Amino acid sequence: MKLSQYYVPISRTIGYDAMDQPFTLVFGPTRSGKSFLTLHLINMLASLPLDNVKGLHGLASFPTQLYIIDLKNAEMARLGRLLPSGRVATNKSEALNLLNRFVELKRERANFLANKVTFGATASSLNMPLFCMIFEEYATTNAVFSNGLTKQDKNDRYKWDALIKELFLTGAGLGFVAIIITQQPSVGNAGLSTIITEQVSVKLGMGAMTSTQLRLGFGNDVDIPDYHLTKGEGLAWINGSNDELLMPFRAPHIDPSRIWETLKLSLSYQDTDRYLLMTNT
Ligand SMILES: Nc1ncnc2c1ncn2[C@@H]1O[C@H](COP(=O)(O)OP(=O)(O)O)[C@@H](O)[C@H]1O
Ligand SMILES: [Mg+2]
Repeated sequence: MKLSQYYVPISRTIGYDAMDQPFTLVFGPTRSGKSFLTLHLINMLASLPLDNVKGLHGLASFPTQLYIIDLKNAEMARLGRLLPSGRVATNKSEALNLLNRFVELKRERANFLANKVTFGATASSLNMPLFCMIFEEYATTNAVFSNGLTKQDKNDRYKWDALIKELFLTGAGLGFVAIIITQQPSVGNAGLSTIITEQVSVKLGMGAMTSTQLRLGFGNDVDIPDYHLTKGEGLAWINGSNDELLMPFRAPHIDPSRIWETLKLSLSYQDTDRYLLMTNT
């Protein structure tokens, strides 16, 4: 089988096309393996296109550019040491600025595609690199923007909501994608916005969860299988490929003593100016 140039393996058996399925939700309780799975996805995205899915190796000729919002300032934020400056936000104002910057870059690419290239060309037909925002613990982030009653808080909330809307509802096919990690897949102030739950087309539920918890994340239209999963294992829903069935998978094993070195290599092709308008044809 010829895999698409944006194919990202979730495990050794399943994966998705990150251009066609731009928004991925990773949910599950604490210590279920959400962050480790996401580190693996980051490693794959940063190495696109893959030349060897079995060996999980990439050519990195159009490496995904990564941006991270981690208001808990945990392991995801530490990737800031491997990324160019200005890619990681760890507080409210940084988060707003980073999301704003990300959406501006998206507009810039949209203008480029509309004006500068052959009619009908797309980010995908031009093999343009993806740009990916990682929301580490979205429920926490959303709560930070939902709370607060000062004028400044209201302004920030308004801007944040508008940017989220623009990121998730406009410009499909530009290659601007996101991974949303959360312990709390329900909708509401302490959870996800409906915009996000309606736009995600890959859902990965990690670890041991009750059927009620699984329903919150996967919705009511899927059959919940009776597997007993543990950390590093999950159930996947990929829009269009197995609509009513959840597929069990095991995340690739990550050796904590080696992942840093691996990421150091795969994240060595990060450069916003170089890759925003780069084409590979
Ligand atoms: N794919 C994996 N490979 C190796 N160890 C894992 C993997 N996933 C989870 N673990 C183990 O489980 C712990 C919790 O995983 P983590 O991704 O931090 O959970 P979460 O982000 O859901 O709280 C990790 O510190 C690690 O020891
Ligand atoms: Mg985590």
